[in-house]
Parts: sequence; structure tokens; C-alpha cells
Amino acid sequence: MHKIEPRGTERSMKLNIVVLPGDGIGPEVTREAVRILRAQADLHGYDFRFEEHLIGGVAIEKHGAPLPQETIDACLQADAVLLGAVGGPQFDSLPREQKPEAGLLGIRKALGGFANLRPTVAYPGLAECSPLRPEIVRGADVVIVRELLGGLYFGEPRGISDQRKEAHNTLRYTAAEIERVARVAFDLALRRRRRVTSVDKANVLETSQLWRRVVSAVALDYPQVKLDHMYVDTCSMRLVTSPTSFDVVLTENMFGDILSDEAAVLAGSLGVLGSATIGGKVDLFEPVHGSAPDIAGRGLANPIGAIATAAMLLRHAGGMEQEARDIEAAIADVLREGFRTADLKAGRHRAILSTEQMGEQIERALYDVVDRRHAYHAV
Ligand code: IPM
Ligand code: MN
Repeated sequence: MHKIEPRGTERSMKLNIVVLPGDGIGPEVTREAVRILRAQADLHGYDFRFEEHLIGGVAIEKHGAPLPQETIDACLQADAVLLGAVGGPQFDSLPREQKPEAGLLGIRKALGGFANLRPTVAYPGLAECSPLRPEIVRGADVVIVRELLGGLYFGEPRGISDQRKEAHNTLRYTAAEIERVARVAFDLALRRRRRVTSVDKANVLETSQLWRRVVSAVALDYPQVKLDHMYVDTCSMRLVTSPTSFDVVLTENMFGDILSDEAAVLAGSLGVLGSATIGGKVDLFEPVHGSAPDIAGRGLANPIGAIATAAMLLRHAGGMEQEARDIEAAIADVLREGFRTADLKAGRHRAILSTEQMGEQIERALYDVVDRRHAYHAV
């Protein structure tokens, strides 16, 4: 392995990363994300340390609970947390607070990140993998900013009656919760195409009326950014009929959950999307896809979502914008060269790779990307 170090400068960028591989395909895809982070550390002489802890079903099996205290403690000490996925059908019958998903919601809450960034880009080369027509997805580049700690997911009271004939959840937002996530969306839009679409259901819900009012007030601080409000039903349609009309989509927790899976069709597969959760004590990074127990352990999973997540980790937790871009360029290169995983079979391609082989290809491409940039700067 060749190292590229700026002459005369001793660089020791240290990042302590807690890895929570979790369940299903989580361990296989995070392994590849760690491979790429190690490659970046090698290339630049950085010091990245990795420490694994349990969450989700594996934690239930070992400790009887989905989020052991020692996992929370380790995450709170870290510079960043990289999570794979949680969940599996064998836990379906457990009460809600003992399910693997409770571990995920618990770590989100403990770390305090309230803004979940979920970018979707239509990679050139993957257009044929999308069920949408190529001319519709071409050029799509959307980031959903999903509020992650409020709304129906965490609202109290909640419950189900003893006879299970009635159940309730609470949709509640405070102005402060809306404002802080709105600011993240507007700040992000300033670095992009300067458009925010705020998504709500203000024709029906009071929480949405408050959402709209607060977002409009925040927009006054960002005169360079164009704000639109859109109902969630309209948005769900427009995301697939005119995806290129969106830049930053700002929305509450549940709407963001739904719209981000929908937006995945623009990219061709849920397997290529990463996410970052910022704004709390420690930033949390997780691919958008789930644990996919049906394909776990067979080398079929796409590691690109986890690797894109690793890029976001360097950008948001490490302040390493160039290093993040180089990983994103390596992913795009490998896809352009026609390498695919099993979820991306549609259309012309060169080879279908296993999870590990895809990780290796992206690592190789990353070395090429960095070499090319250095060659360019040397002239
Ligand atoms: C996601 C997932 C989670 C969520 C589940 C697993 C709790 O669907 O990250 O989008 O709903 O937030
Ligand atoms: Mn989801």
C-alpha cells in the first residue's frame, strides 16, 4: 500500500469510531465501510480506531436487552458511531420496548442527534436499475432532512389497551424542535442549490401548521434560500414524477421515514444510500437500508450504502470534506465501470460482485481517485 503524505507535515488526525454492526446484513456491510475508512487512514496517515459494541438482536441474545448500558457509554465517548442495521423476524413477537428497533431508537435518543440527512443521487450508470424512466431520474440529487427525535416515534402518551381493542400515539412538536432541524436544512441548502421544500400536512394537522409557521420564520434568516411548502401526499408523488425539482426536503420524523424509502427508487436501490444524524452529543451514521435477514450472511448485500455512510462520517464528524468526496467518487467510478451487487442486476453490467468484492473494488477505485488528484496537483 502506498501512502501519500503532505511533505514536511506530520498529520495525525485521530478519530475514535464505535462500530455497531447489529443484525442481518449489518456486520457484512459495516466490515466493508471499515475497510474504506482504514484505506483513507492509510492514504493520509490518519489514526482511526475502531471499537465494536452490541446493539439490536445480537444484544438481546447476549444480554437480554437491545441496548446495553456499556454500548451507550462507549458511544458517548466516541467521535462518531457507525451503525449497520438492526432487526429480525425472530424478535417480532417481543414487546415493543424489547425489540431490536427499540435499541436503535434508544441510541438515537441517547446521542441526541435530531437531524437525519438522507441524500439520494441518481448515479450515472444506475438509471436502468430504477423502475422510473431514465429521463425522469437523470440528474436527481435530493437530500431529505428528517427530524429524528420527535413526532409519533417518541410522543407520549402512547399505548395499547389491555384488551387490544384500542391504541394511541401522540404527534407533538415544539417550536424549538422544529426550528433547530429547520436551521440544519437551510444551512445545508446554502452549500447546495439553495432550495428547501418543507413537507407537512398543514391542511389537516396542527403540528404541521406550527411546522409551517416556524419554518417560514427561520427562512427569513436565509434570504438566499428559496423555500416552498408542500403537502406530504403531493411530495410523495412529485418525488417520483419530477425528482429533479427537489434540492433539500425538510420534514418531520414519520414523513421522513416514508419519503426516504420512496426516494431510494431514484438511486436504483435502497442498498446504496447512506445517512448521517447530526446535532447531538455524538453523530450517528447508518445506512438507510434495514437488516435484510433474508439475504444475510450470503455475500449478497450491497455495501455501498454503508460505504456512502462512511463518507458522511468523515465529512460530518471528521471535517474531512475532500476525503468524503474521494470515497463518493470511488463509488461512482465503480458503478460507472459496470460493477454491481445482486440488488442492481437490471440493465447492462460488467460483473455481479459479492459484498466483499464490491468493497475491494471501491477500495481500489479510492486509491485511483486519490492518485489522480495528486498527479493533477503535481503538474
Ligand atoms: C429507518 C428505519 C427505522 C426508522 C426503524 C428500523 C425503527 O426504518 O431508519 O428508516 O423507522 O427510523
Ligand atoms: Mn425507514
